Amino acid sequence: MHQKSITISYEEYYSNEGLNTKDKELLDRAIEATRGAYAPYSKFKVGAAVRLNNGEIIAANNQENAAYPSGLCAERIAIFYAHAKYPDASIESLAVTASVNGNICDTPTYPCGACRQVMAESEQRAGKPIRIVIGGEKITQVVSEIKSLLPFVFNNLPK
Ligand code: THU
Repeated sequence: MHQKSITISYEEYYSNEGLNTKDKELLDRAIEATRGAYAPYSKFKVGAAVRLNNGEIIAANNQENAAYPSGLCAERIAIFYAHAKYPDASIESLAVTASVNGNICDTPTYPCGACRQVMAESEQRAGKPIRIVIGGEKITQVVSEIKSLLPFVFNNLPK
């Protein structure tokens, strides 16, 4: 038996003013996108924005449905739309945040497991790490690659 361990590192900010210009711009786009979320069931409005290597930013939000599992998270809508619109572009970074009653949540809203899996494949497509800004009103965290959020990704299909 070999006992192994994984260490993850992340940046933590107590004011979004401390973020670098690109991260702040992307998080601002995600914050703005929360307003357009369709979340009549959870009332939890998520906004996501992805920055592409062609300079474009694509923002999206969660879209719910009366048949609950038919809805989709903000991150996956942003990622899939970005790939659909610009199939040859790579995602460089992604920002996500959420609001309740019009107020951005104080603490970070971490992407769900399914969104992490999708991010991992976008990173594989890009061949470069994707930076992820997980924004809150009081605390924002930044990881420099999806591995920090999903260390054991499903990627074992036969080649
Ligand atoms: N949601 C997202 O948009 N992203 C996540 O990473 C987690 C959850 C949405 C799905 C649903 O519309 C609402 O938040 C409550 O789960």
